[in-house]
Amino acid sequence: MSTTIKTQVCIIGAGPSGLLLAQLLANSGIDTVVLDRKDRAYIEGRIRAGVLEQGTVTALEEAGAAERLHREGLTHDGFELAFDGIRHRIDIAALTGKTVTVYGQTEVTKDLFDKRYAEGQVFYFNVEDVKPTNLKSDQPAVHFTKDGENIVVECDYVAGCDGFHGVSRRAIPADVLKTYERIYPFGWLGILVEKPPVSHELIYANHERGFALASMRSDTRSRYYIQCGVNDDLANWSDDRFWEEFALRLGPDAAANLQTGPSFEKSIAPLRSFVAEPMRYGNLFLAGDAAHIVPPTGAKGLNLAASDIRILSRALVEHYKNNNDHYMDTYSATALARVWKGERFSWQLSALMHQFPDHSPFERKMQRAEFDYIMGSEAASRSIAENYVGLPLE
Ligand code: APR
Ligand code: PHB
Repeated sequence: MSTTIKTQVCIIGAGPSGLLLAQLLANSGIDTVVLDRKDRAYIEGRIRAGVLEQGTVTALEEAGAAERLHREGLTHDGFELAFDGIRHRIDIAALTGKTVTVYGQTEVTKDLFDKRYAEGQVFYFNVEDVKPTNLKSDQPAVHFTKDGENIVVECDYVAGCDGFHGVSRRAIPADVLKTYERIYPFGWLGILVEKPPVSHELIYANHERGFALASMRSDTRSRYYIQCGVNDDLANWSDDRFWEEFALRLGPDAAANLQTGPSFEKSIAPLRSFVAEPMRYGNLFLAGDAAHIVPPTGAKGLNLAASDIRILSRALVEHYKNNNDHYMDTYSATALARVWKGERFSWQLSALMHQFPDHSPFERKMQRAEFDYIMGSEAASRSIAENYVGLPLE
């Protein structure tokens, strides 16, 4: 037995990319169906970075999902880089006139889900065997099964918002798709703890024992990370060991304010840079992690996803409202131009702030010289600041 559904845009993936796209299209009266192989509780449970560029905040405002963000998000005017305990503040507000907002991706996802539910979005969760077909024709379709039933979504366009492990990117023939990748020789061990942050701004620290990051979710909840081995086992990391290592890497000055406690979440994430080109194939459009991954240094993942969606929603709205396909035709090139700049910044900050197993004392000296240069140069500090707050959409 099979059921056929019709919609204008079939969105594969209910992460932040898929949800934001569904909302921005709904605002213009464009009909969508959203499917995900997981369910809402699982998606909302994913812990990810939490620094939003102003452009991302604007997109959430346009989506009508920024009310709680404005109430609970923390506005940050700067952040710190530290090297062997020496601290340098990047005053992003003074250097760029812009700020960033600290608000967890989990909360962004919840807000978007609430809004989509309130407006009656059609969702299919826990779907299996998702398969986009006929992508080169003007009658694409997405096939899947749910509870053993075969379902076909017939649509005008397919939005591949299904993350790095999704099926959309793989639907592009190998002779069309070109991928670029770098896998880093370390991971990040992250914890969440119900204690006030060690500092009211983020601190990215490079220490001879490895990288550490002091971040937060609120005035009472902290998110802390340390660089660890790629194959490190969580079982090796008791809270006590984490705190000892974290304090050492932050340096005595910052660590003097550290409040420790039991972690309520602890996980290890690998670091990867990845880009797939093109981001359009026929009537399939890729967005977010389906098309690109950045290492978390600089927190660009969600922000790049949001900028893809701003570009893609404009393209679809122009198509449906004004019969104008210019932005559809330029989507891939426009999105990729910004993606590559985000990749470059995340790669540069990762290279500056971590200990690489294959580094010689020379490379260590190069990192230190770069840090000293940034400390002494307003131009260098501004360059970091302008990337951190987010480059223009195009
Ligand atoms: N079929 C349907 N849904 C799928 C499939 C599939 N075959 N594969 C994956 N998905 C779903 C996942 O369950 C997930 O909910 O697609 C969604 C993708 O969501 P994300 O991985 O969060 O990707 P995206 O929405 O692009 O968000 C980007 O997430 O990884 C972070 O740093 C990144 O913050 C950035 C953000
Ligand atoms: C986080 O708060 O989880 C976070 C913040 C900044 C980063 C990465 C992660 O660069």
